[in-house]
This record gives sequence, C-alpha cells and structure tokens, in this order.
Amino acid sequence: MKETANTNTAPKQDYVPALGFAWATKLYDGAIHISMREELLRKRTVACVKKTNPSNVLEAGCGTGSLTRALARGLPGADITGVDIDPQALKIAQEKLADANTVTLVSANLINLADVEELSEKRFDHVVSSLVLHHLTTHQKHLALANLWALMNDNGKLTIADWGPPVGIVQYLGFWLVRLLDGMEVTSANREGKLPSLLSGAGFAIEDVKPLHQTALGTVWLYQARRSPEGSTNQNTKLGDI
Ligand SMILES: C[S@@+](CC[C@H](N)C(=O)[O-])C[C@H]1O[C@@H](n2cnc3c(N)ncnc32)[C@H](O)[C@@H]1O
Repeated sequence: MKETANTNTAPKQDYVPALGFAWATKLYDGAIHISMREELLRKRTVACVKKTNPSNVLEAGCGTGSLTRALARGLPGADITGVDIDPQALKIAQEKLADANTVTLVSANLINLADVEELSEKRFDHVVSSLVLHHLTTHQKHLALANLWALMNDNGKLTIADWGPPVGIVQYLGFWLVRLLDGMEVTSANREGKLPSLLSGAGFAIEDVKPLHQTALGTVWLYQARRSPEGSTNQNTKLGDI
C-alpha cells in the first residue's frame, strides 16, 4: 500500500462513523461479517466494477478497507484509491492493506474532495462506494456526488451499493436498527428511494437500479451510472426538486 495522505480530515468528528458511534468502529468488520453475508456482498460489488475493466478506481468512503482489499484482489492490474474521513477506520484499512501495492489510501472528506491535493491531478475510470451515502445528509450527498463526478473521466462509471427501500418485512423492520444507529435524517433519502434523483442531479446518467443484496438489516440496492460529460449543467438542480 502506498503512503497514506493526511489532508482535509475534519478536526472534530462531524461525520457519522461506520457503526454510528466512534467507539464501535473497531467492531465494524465483525458486525458486517455476521449481519450482511459480507463475502457475497463484496463479490457482487467487485463484479460490477470488474466488468468495466477500469485502469484505476476510486473507492469513496473505503472505511476499514474490506471492499478495497476485494477490489485490489479482483482487479490486480488497476490502481485503487480509497478515501475516507475517519482516521480510526483508515488505520484498520492500512493494516489490512499493508501488502497491497496497488492501493493508495487518502484521508479526506467526500464533500471537500475538490480541495484534496493528492487527487487534484487524478481522473478515475470507475468510482465505487459501498454503504456510505446513507451517512450523509441529502445536501452532503449532492455535494459528494458532484465532487465524484468532477474526479471522473468522461463516460466513467459509477457503482453505488447502499441501503435503498427495504424489500420485505424483515428488511423493513431491520432497517430501523440501521436508522437508529446512523441517524434518521441521513438515512431518509435512501429509505425513500431518492438516490437515483440525486445521481441525476449531480450529472450522472443512470444505467441500472435494482436490489443487489438482501440482509436482515435491510436491502442493499445497486445504483449504476455513467458520468455524463454534459451533466455538470444538471448540477444546478435544486435539492428541493429531488
Ligand atoms: C458503513 S461504513 C462503509 C465502509 C466501507 N465502504 C464498507 O463497505 O465497508 C461508512 C464509511 O463512510 C465514511 N464516511 C462518512 N462520512 C464521510 C465523509 N463525509 N467523507 C468520507 N467518508 C465518510 C465513514 O467514516 C465510514 O468509514
């Protein structure tokens, strides 16, 4: 793994950590493994990225690096850059990825990516993000997606795997736990199926939206899109319209 850059991480915690509380981040890997049939989720997510044969990939909100590691193994010829705001999660990722020489980890806030020096020269073929957008308010989601759009090559691909409207009664009930842990406000757009409108509003052309993975905590949806070169004009969409 290449050197971890330390850039614009917020000095105080103004983000929602992996399991809702900072003290719980060390439990994240175990919790996801037990509750989410993690291996299958990672496999399904990597397959979506792999089919576009990217030479470089940005993982937005890489957390403790489990998807990053699966990406590095599944795409051995690609450079993988993982970005996350949480130093605690990044420390776990660093340890996990110590031997992964195609991976670079960057400490940064998704809503300020335009200011990140380590990314300023880079443009990515594929951006992937798993279980992250539901940590951001609707306004922050819009800013993060617009920032990701700006870091992509024309017609670059976007894969989002995140909670969407629960499909099934178990998932409907289980998702309340996620909402209690991570927050009602940040999870509401996911719950209400608003991610596609947010993606379009940030300049992406939607290619596929479907349930990807059922868990006892809710339904993970797949949102696949293409960076539309003319899409920046859509970024003026008022959030009130979404
Ligand atoms: C539930 S974890 C998902 C981690 C990883 N993507 C996975 O699939 O296991 C959500 C991650 O989003 C990160 N995050 C939340 N807000 C963020 C922000 N504004 N900028 C960057 N990362 C953020 C958290 O630090 C956390 O690591």
